[in-house]
Amino acid sequence: MKARQAALILLDAVLRERRMLAQVEVPAEGAEAARASRLATTVLRNIGAVDAILRPFSQRKPQIEVQNLLRLGAVELLVNGEDAHGVTNDIVGIAKSEPRSRKASGMVNAILRKVALEGPEKWAKAPPQRLPPWLDKALRKRIGAEGIRAIEVAQAKAPPIDLTLRDTDFTLADADLLPTGSLRLHNQPQVSALPGFTQGAFWVQDAAAALPARLLGDVKGKRVLDICAAPGGKTMQLAAAGADVTALDISGPRMARVAENLTRTGLKATLITEDAFQHTGTYDAVLLDAPCTATGTIRRHPDLPFVKSGEEVEPLTKLQMQLLDHALSLLNPGGMLVYCTCSLLAVEGEFQITAALKRHKNLQIVPIDPTTLGGDPDWASPEGGLRLLPSHWPDKGGMDGFYMAALRLS
Ligand SMILES: C[S@@+](CC[C@H](N)C(=O)[O-])C[C@H]1O[C@@H](n2cnc3c(N)ncnc32)[C@H](O)[C@@H]1O
Repeated sequence: MKARQAALILLDAVLRERRMLAQVEVPAEGAEAARASRLATTVLRNIGAVDAILRPFSQRKPQIEVQNLLRLGAVELLVNGEDAHGVTNDIVGIAKSEPRSRKASGMVNAILRKVALEGPEKWAKAPPQRLPPWLDKALRKRIGAEGIRAIEVAQAKAPPIDLTLRDTDFTLADADLLPTGSLRLHNQPQVSALPGFTQGAFWVQDAAAALPARLLGDVKGKRVLDICAAPGGKTMQLAAAGADVTALDISGPRMARVAENLTRTGLKATLITEDAFQHTGTYDAVLLDAPCTATGTIRRHPDLPFVKSGEEVEPLTKLQMQLLDHALSLLNPGGMLVYCTCSLLAVEGEFQITAALKRHKNLQIVPIDPTTLGGDPDWASPEGGLRLLPSHWPDKGGMDGFYMAALRLS
């Protein structure tokens, strides 16, 4: 299937069926599949502004299939700067070929022609995609309207690809070494075709996600449990740093990806597919990258606001608290635990740590100085953790939102 048709199927899955793109098989192959995913995510990243531009051009709200055709066409014209004639013809051709949009093909043609003429001026002034109301509400008190706006601006752009290096002396052309040690690619190449990929010289991992494993300090020779490990980015960091790593995850298919990643990079870890709550044993250090709302990764997953409703927050915070308590029970006295989530919400980050410190009198926070990791001083959070936002490093291309804290058991 061609990229545009496949992109429309992906959009339908997200916007009508409320499914995450990661759960949908792209109905195309090779370069067409990659282009379909790019088109669908670009539409989702810009849907608010595109809908505002399209709205005055039709008297009634078109049905969703027609709306998605118009959104795709408008995004290709306004964001990707594609040739108006070619895009309009192709989108009208798709409209004609589908029973549910056939009757509207004339209207699609007329509207896309108007978008090509009048859209660019409006697009230049369009505000970035808003955060979903439930997330806006949860963040507004802590970071204010300006902080929210900065996140929205950061999320409007397609994120760069970051690599974590197995060996620090590896480098690539068309990439920058970030102050925190990740390699940030200038373009969006096919990663598996890059020099060094087959030899396992690196793996894809956002610069923010590469920091929690480093908080454990020198792990050489230590028994370290990576308790929610898949697909294994942090497991590989710990193994590369010389730790005796046990990587555990509840998901069999996701653990298969950890195994694949370890094979490619030539790194070693003991793999266990198990519910963390069933696991017993004692370790010198534990890394808990807990399941969360993933609200820090919206720039990578712009489908998330259309699928999640905020109802997930409460059960997830309960699970995080229970996982944290269980993880602490696996730690030797004097051992260090790093807790992290790729969430923007304090209830999944800062508040989990302050509550854990109250529950466990034998637990202390080890305050993090972000500058020792190559970070900026304002990444430090008052309770001693690290609060990373997509709006950080705006001139370098941003980062995923993350929270992390290091705790020591006495
Ligand atoms: C944020 S992801 C981990 C990402 C991983 N640490 C990395 O860096 O690649 C959270 C993981 O927690 C796992 N998980 C959720 N509940 C779990 C449980 N009860 N026991 C073990 N793993 C669990 C999920 O399968 C998922 O892979």
